[in-house]
Amino acid sequence: PKVVYIGSDGDQRSVDANPGESVMSAAVRAGVPGIVGECGGQLSCATCHVWVREDFRERVGGPGEMEADLLDLGVTDFTEASRLGCQIPITEELDGLVVEPRPEAW
Ligand code: FES
Repeated sequence: PKVVYIGSDGDQRSVDANPGESVMSAAVRAGVPGIVGECGGQLSCATCHVWVREDFRERVGGPGEMEADLLDLGVTDFTEASRLGCQIPITEELDGLVVEPRPEAW
């Protein structure tokens, strides 16, 4: 499945992800700017914050309780589009997923 990352400068990066990989790990592997994944997906850094594009929000779903807490504490631009990339497993159903990395958090 493909994941498309759109930078705040409009720069688009399309990454071929492996099913089961997270939106964070696919980005780190491909060197996508704006996603660090400092804690390695342990739900403790928020450096994988992304905004999920509206057409995908229903399929991706909202953050879990701990994820929402971390977003609340850890980022300045927490919106209804916010998810932590390490908590979104990529599946075939999410092929073409478009997210915007939010590097402001760090
Ligand atoms: Fe640290 Fe997602 S990689 S919270």
